[in-house]
Amino acid sequence: MRKRFYITTPIYYVNSVPHIGTALTTLASDVTARYRAMRGDDVTFVTGTDENGTKVMEAAQRAGKDTQAFVDEISGAFADVFTGLKIGYSDFIRTTEPRHRRAVQEVFTRLRDAGYVTLGKYEGWYDVSSETFFRESDLVDGKSPDGNEVRWVEEENWFFRLSEFEKPLLDHIEAHPEFILPEARRNEVVSFIRRGLRDASITRTNPGWGIPVPGDETKVIYVWFDALINYLAAAGWPDEGWQALWPADVEWMGKDILTRFHATLWPAMLMGLGLPLPTTLVGHAWMLMGGEKISKSKGNVVAPLDLARDLAAASGCAEDAAIDAVRYYMAATLPLENDATFTHDDFEKHYNSDLANDLGNALNRSLAMSAKFVGAVVPDAPVEPEVAAAIRAAKDGFEAAMAVYDVAAATSAAFGLVRFLNKHIDTRAPWALAKAGDPALGSVMGSILLTLRSAEGLVRPIMPGVADAIAAQLGVAPLTEWDAIGTPGSLPAGTVLSEPKPIFPRLDLKAKAAAQAAPPKPEKPKKEPPIPMEPIGIEDFAKVELRIGRVLEAVPLEGSDKLLKLDVLVGDEKRQIVAGIRKNYTPEQMIGRQVVVVFNLKPAMLRGTESQGMLLAAVDEQGGAILLRPEKEAPEGAKVR
Ligand code: MSP
Repeated sequence: MRKRFYITTPIYYVNSVPHIGTALTTLASDVTARYRAMRGDDVTFVTGTDENGTKVMEAAQRAGKDTQAFVDEISGAFADVFTGLKIGYSDFIRTTEPRHRRAVQEVFTRLRDAGYVTLGKYEGWYDVSSETFFRESDLVDGKSPDGNEVRWVEEENWFFRLSEFEKPLLDHIEAHPEFILPEARRNEVVSFIRRGLRDASITRTNPGWGIPVPGDETKVIYVWFDALINYLAAAGWPDEGWQALWPADVEWMGKDILTRFHATLWPAMLMGLGLPLPTTLVGHAWMLMGGEKISKSKGNVVAPLDLARDLAAASGCAEDAAIDAVRYYMAATLPLENDATFTHDDFEKHYNSDLANDLGNALNRSLAMSAKFVGAVVPDAPVEPEVAAAIRAAKDGFEAAMAVYDVAAATSAAFGLVRFLNKHIDTRAPWALAKAGDPALGSVMGSILLTLRSAEGLVRPIMPGVADAIAAQLGVAPLTEWDAIGTPGSLPAGTVLSEPKPIFPRLDLKAKAAAQAAPPKPEKPKKEPPIPMEPIGIEDFAKVELRIGRVLEAVPLEGSDKLLKLDVLVGDEKRQIVAGIRKNYTPEQMIGRQVVVVFNLKPAMLRGTESQGMLLAAVDEQGGAILLRPEKEAPEGAKVR
């Protein structure tokens, strides 16, 4: 049986819908899957959702929903976003599915029978946010190392004898340099293991949600022990045939879940079961926003499909192209070793310079000149050697980068060829050759078109829709075989080309900047209405419900130079609030910020847009706003009294 190429993503907690931070790991996996498929591998690519934890159960309770109904809804939302982002997964596993529960109970039983799982007493701290047990000495100022709240736990629990695997793990890492990537991360793992591994508590008292311990319904299996097994369950283990998939060729994840879980607990579990370890674990860095990891708990989320929708509306590109633009941005900036920062500005700049300019020009010029100089037909002429070399170099660069799962470097290699094409057009100047009747024209135009065709192949794993559009404009079928990239046969002489059609219209950033930077008109200081002298009782004040919110999104309200339209998350509820603060705050300053919201104010229409609340602000001498915010980060949705 031929072993399939098996790619996995982490399975996502269903406590909130996906954002560009969580979509990043899935996108990296999807680019890997599409690339490997082009190389001829029989790829299986699995993603899914992690549904059994306390965190998820409590999110359902907060939303006032039945837990199963809640996880069904959010798991579905993940699948929808992934489909919207053209994530071509072959299987979507949910940890509430019978195939997963059965595999988890089987692993537990086998490890208990083998003496690796024993009963003990756990006393220590538990961080629900990352579902992690911590020792007192791990805590920083009474919180988890990531700054999350922790709870004291004292329970009789089952323990996995992780400490026995210190040496085998270190030996495996040393013998297999490809096991943990990137290299810097491998060193972190090695020093973590060398500091000593404790036996891991792998059960919790049953809160009525989770996978019960076989033979002991009072306990459920710890969510990380449970979740990691999804990779085996999706391979069909323990049923016949799992060897066609297992071991995974690459398990993608963010750096936060590599060291403690995927690079220690998981391989030790597999060693205890006598199963082979995944070939490679890749722990990429984070996407930050405003200096913090993008995450639901920080309230600074950007939804990838909204980003695409807004781009399509602002630039006029098709929605499918906008999705590819978001994919491109995520791939081009995919943080591997070091964290990256997301800003809308950076996204728009990448769009304009790489897609509208570089790729757009390459496509448009190549096809327009072909129509003009060679009758819109691929000439029968040899490829220029320097062009063949440039295509080869870009392809090699892409392959070398993907060999170490550096998606950003691979993307840069592909776009290096696009930029080469634009330069080559400038230096070879086909218009001059045509004017002079130079016989080199055929070879030059043929080489230009082959470069475009090769660029189509190289960008395909990242932007499949755009690649199809380029192929269609070239008048050929999509280039889906990696080996064909750069071969003259991939664009046969005589192929009739189509008219160039722009895929990515430019965004007008200057107009946007000018609108934002327009000097405010001098205004007369406003007189504030006098404060009524009549004192009110506490019962009057108590009628006003003030709560802490966090601004998720901020945009200028069309048709007004004073108003910003904000999406504000108050606890679990999202409110649209129109605030007259544009003179004093830019949208960028607002995103991620905590604010005080008048929560029970009747909705009002401002310039045709509904405002569902009001922000509290002090008033400056010009009548402008100075927003109130808590002196330190307050819990999401906290009441203000
Ligand atoms: N449920 C666990 C994984 C279990 S795998 C057996 C989990 N889920 S998660 O939803 O919190 O995170 C899933 C993935 O998204 C992780 O790889 C995490 O690193 C990644 N990211 C979440 N926010 C991110 C950023 N802001 N930036 C980059 N990656 C981020 O952990």
